This record gives sequence, structure tokens and C-alpha cells, in this order.
Amino acid sequence: MNGMLWYGADYNPDQWLDRPDILARDIELMKKAHISVVSLGIFAWSALEPAEGDYRLDWMQEVIDRLWAAGIRVDLATPSGARPAWLAQKYPEVRRVNPDRVRQLFGDRQNHCYTSPVYREKVRAIDQALARRFGRHPAVVMWHISNEFGGECHCELCQQAFRDWLREKYGSLDAINRAWNTAFWSHTYTDFSQIESPAPQGESAMNGLILDWKRFVSHQTTDFMKWERDCVREIVPEAKVCVNMMYRFDMIDYFEMGREIDLASWDSYPTWHKPTQTFEETAIDTAMMHDLIYSVKGQPFWQMECTPSMTNWQGVSKVKKPGVNLFSGLQAVAHGADGVLYFQWRQSRGAFEKFHGAVVAHDGREDNRVFAEAARLGALLEQLAPVAGERKEKQAAIVFDWSAKWALEGSQGPRNKGLGYWEEITRHYAALSRLGVNVDFVNEDAELSGYRLVVAPMLYMLREDFAAKLRAFTQNGGTLVVTYWSGVADDTDLCYLGDTPHGLCDVLGLRRLEIDGMYDGETRRCIPAEGSPLAACTCGTLCEVEALEGARPLLLYDEDFFKGHAAAAVNDFGAGRAYTLASRFEEGFYLPFYRGICEGLVTRAWPDELPAGMLAVRRGRFIFLQNAADTPNRAGDVELPAYGTAVFEDGKRIL
Ligand code: GAL
Repeated sequence: MNGMLWYGADYNPDQWLDRPDILARDIELMKKAHISVVSLGIFAWSALEPAEGDYRLDWMQEVIDRLWAAGIRVDLATPSGARPAWLAQKYPEVRRVNPDRVRQLFGDRQNHCYTSPVYREKVRAIDQALARRFGRHPAVVMWHISNEFGGECHCELCQQAFRDWLREKYGSLDAINRAWNTAFWSHTYTDFSQIESPAPQGESAMNGLILDWKRFVSHQTTDFMKWERDCVREIVPEAKVCVNMMYRFDMIDYFEMGREIDLASWDSYPTWHKPTQTFEETAIDTAMMHDLIYSVKGQPFWQMECTPSMTNWQGVSKVKKPGVNLFSGLQAVAHGADGVLYFQWRQSRGAFEKFHGAVVAHDGREDNRVFAEAARLGALLEQLAPVAGERKEKQAAIVFDWSAKWALEGSQGPRNKGLGYWEEITRHYAALSRLGVNVDFVNEDAELSGYRLVVAPMLYMLREDFAAKLRAFTQNGGTLVVTYWSGVADDTDLCYLGDTPHGLCDVLGLRRLEIDGMYDGETRRCIPAEGSPLAACTCGTLCEVEALEGARPLLLYDEDFFKGHAAAAVNDFGAGRAYTLASRFEEGFYLPFYRGICEGLVTRAWPDELPAGMLAVRRGRFIFLQNAADTPNRAGDVELPAYGTAVFEDGKRIL
């Protein structure tokens, strides 16, 4: 249903089949909490098929009918995230093989081989049994395909699939040998069967192979997801599917998977209230993931999971303080969520997650803070229904490409102590976020039209076609920011020969001379160049030395052998402007830098400067003002308590 913000939770009635009283009470409490949808039966396979081919779906029928009667819709899960013991025992090939080539035993979850024909067949059978029985039930509005896809398998079936994938991609061994520069250390392949996935006791040095393995793992995982999707759609062609994605997850290119689903979603578990970060920093970090998941499809998403109170797997299980659950639910909506769901509705009695927070805890009561806040958020989301479906205006884009990240982080040098890629991205994102500028994330397949500002942090792997897009974007009046260690290698991780940043030297008006690694805590002073609006600051991590060929310096290194060289520069190119940031600067650098750039370029969500902790986000005709601070705060005449939110529709306050 459009026109509403969904509110719900993972619901596991399969754990309570011997307690009909509890199942009945669930519905009663869901109504009180304003629940409109549940993700049903995510790990219910052994209750649905206790023995091979023996389907027991009646209990689920009863649950779905009861939910429907109460006006609650179902996001029906395919149960492939965890398989029954009988399956793992009878068909060893479904169990994953680790990088060291040891096959796993039965246990845990999301650890099956995505290539295994047996696993695919068994999954097909259960998915289609569910689709036949429930696919046309009016309550079922969405399919939750598996759960948090991830991991990799190194079995013989996967090795073969990897080789087939390479053959398809490159056509010949010669092309592979060239693409990976296998002449290095005499690694030239003479037969496809010699190619093996990376292993601790085998290949760990061939950058191109490792990069392609990561791409293959993402491809194979997506292929498995498509298999499940198509099994369901064979029975119910109009079925809508979603997958739940994860925080900073490295193993799947979510842009690739996102193309194959109807709805993107993610599971959000920030460690609120940690002593090493302000509440605002945690909020901005979370907002960044919301914006990345929004960008996966460029449309509203769901926050598929979060805890109403605490997790049980973080180092310290901290409870969300009063007001924080409201803050985080509304923050998701501000950044484009059309659904806010919890893990989990009811706390399980035993096993790994028995102490994980839930809307209903072991005491089964509704007269407590967690339930009351959950119910309040449900009521507010009903009130905010007009926000549903609203898009975010295209303003700034940060380039984030999974392949480019794998290549960057998979290379040896110039700093094996950690490149801090997310840290770099966060500095740009945080500044733009504090300025109330909408940020999308784009990969190297993206079209850049519509954006006013494009930021390319550490775009080490820069494809020729994307370099051409960045050039055209700037030429046509866009503002481009490129950092150090960009335009170094091509899409098989071969270094570009000649001047770098490849394809951008004339756009940026400079070329790279050298790059120096800094130890943790080691910094270099920078001073403003003549006439520059920027203030003196320090930088570290990596210091790139540029030869300016047309660009004007903004900051100059003030120490070390590169003293006097530009640490930041700007170049006019066509109708646009391109900035180079040659190092990672102290955090305080970025806000004034972007404030200057955004002046006259984009309309910020809040017209005046906001005090520290206040964040404003525009979503269509709505503006969300949130106090991401532990104390009351004020912006103009709007006063908000700690973690408070105000919402404006066309300038008029509605919350
Ligand atoms: C998610 C997972 C859920 C649950 C939750 C606990 O990653 O999808 O099934 O385990 O974590 O926080």
C-alpha cells in the first residue's frame, strides 16, 4: 500500500507454536503498538519442512489469517537463511567450504553454498510451497528473500563457477594473464583449471585475481538471490521482493544486487551512547548508511531491522536512552525510509538472541518504557503518512563503488596500516550533512546529471568511462572534489601508465608527483595560499605531492620535503570547477571548506546556521529538524529536547 509508512518487526511464531495464548496475545499487542507489517518466518524452515518433502504450512496459514484479520500485512520470508539439520546432514555439498578448503559442519546460519545445485533445488521446493499456498494471500505485500546474504564458499562447485565466470568475462586465458599481470612472480596460467580462489595456503598476492574473486562472490550471491526471487515469481509473477542489507557490508556490491529487487532495506544497529563518539557523530554515521541504501535504488527504502532497546552482540549492550528510539525511527524516515521495522517483535526464550531487545520482552508486558516508546513511534508514523513515497532532491553525490573499494583496500602500499576509507568518506559526508545538503552515493556506472556537486574520495580505481563522465560533469558546470590517491588503476587493477590522476589531470589542473604515508598520529602543517579563504590546519594519513599545471593552490604544505607544494587546489574547467584535496585534513577543515563550496550551489535544508548537534534533512516537501544532542537545543524559535524531532511540511510545523 502506498501512502503509508510501514511499521513492524521480525515475527517468529515458529518459536511459539506450543503457546497459542502467546500467539493470540501477540496480535493484541501489535495493534496497541500500531504495527502494520511483520517480516514472517525468516528462520522457520525446520517448522515448515521438518523432514524432507514433508511440508507443514497450516500453522503459518493460521498466523497469516489472524494477522490479516487484524489488518496487519506480511513481508513473507523465504527461509533459506538457515537450513534444517536434516538437509545439512543428508547433502554435505550445501555446507560451505572455508578459504582453507575445510568444509563447515552444521550450525549457525547463512553459511550455505550459493552454487550448490542441491541447495538451490531444496530452496526452490520450500519457496514454491510457500508461494503456492500464500503468494496470493491478500496479507502478503512483500517477499523478504532470505536474510542478510553474505559470506563466500570455496568448494569445488564454486571454483568451477568462478572459472566459468572468468571465461565469460575475459574470453581467454591470455586476456586474464594480461589483465592480472601474471608475468609477475611467474604466475602465468596455462590452463583454466590452475585458477583457484584465494586461500591462506595458496594465492594471496595476485591483486587482479583477488579483486575478480570478490566480484564473483558478489555476482554469485546476487545470482542465488535472483534464483529465489524467480522461484517465487514463477508461481506469483507480480511478487515484490526485498533483501535486508547490512552496515558497511563489504562482500556484496549492493548496487548490483539492488538492480534485481523491488525494495532496498537495511538492518541498523548503531552503538548509541558510546564514550568514544558524540551522539551527533553516531547519528551522522547512521544517516550515511540510510543515504547509501536509499541510493541503491534511488528510491525510498525500509529500515528492516533495528532494536527498540538494546542488542546482545555488541561489546557492551547499551539500552537506547528515552527518546532515542523515536529519534532513530524518525531519522530513518527523514533520510528516505518508508518503513521502520524491528528485530524483533518478541524476545526468544533461549539460544543466541535470548537477551536481544524486542518490543515484547520475556515479561510479556506492555506497561514499560520500551513498549510505550515503540507504540508512540507507531502512532507518529501514522501521523506522518504523507511523507511516504517522497523522494530526495539530487544535490551532492559521493562516489562509492564496491569494486573500487576492493581494489583500493586490496593493494599493498602506500599505507598497509589502514587507509581509513570509510573515515575519509565520513569526513565529506559529515560536513555536507551538518550543512543540510542531501547526499546520494553513486558508483562508477552512475549518470551524474542532476547533481551540483560530486565528491570522489580516494577513487583509486577509476574506469576510463567514469573519468569521462566526471570530465563532462565538470565541463558542463558541475563542481567536482577529488582527493589524493585517485585515478591510479584501471578496472582490473593495472596501474595507469603516464600522468595521473588518469583522465583527470587537465580537469584538476595538476598531476601527481609522489605520495607519502604517515604513521598514525603523524601530521603535517598546512597554511593558506595567498588569497585563499581556507584556514591553517593539519593533515595526515597520506600526503600527495602535486605538480600544479593550471590549478591555483588553496592550502600549502608547511613542513617536510614537500613544504610549499599544494595540499589543496582548485581549477576552473569548462563551465565548472574542480578541487583537489591532496591529503586527509583534520576534521575541522571540512565544514568551512564545503560551506564555501555549497554557497550559491545548493539550497540547504535549513536556511540559517545550525548549532552543534542540530541536523536538518529535506525529503521532498518535508523538512526534518533533529536534535542529535544529549541536551536541549534550539534553532531559530524551534526548541527541541534531547533527541527531539520537529517536522515541517511546506514550511508549516506538523510535528
Ligand atoms: C541481524 C539479523 C537478525 C538478528 C539481528 C540481531 O543482523 O538479520 O536475524 O540476528 O541481527 O541484532
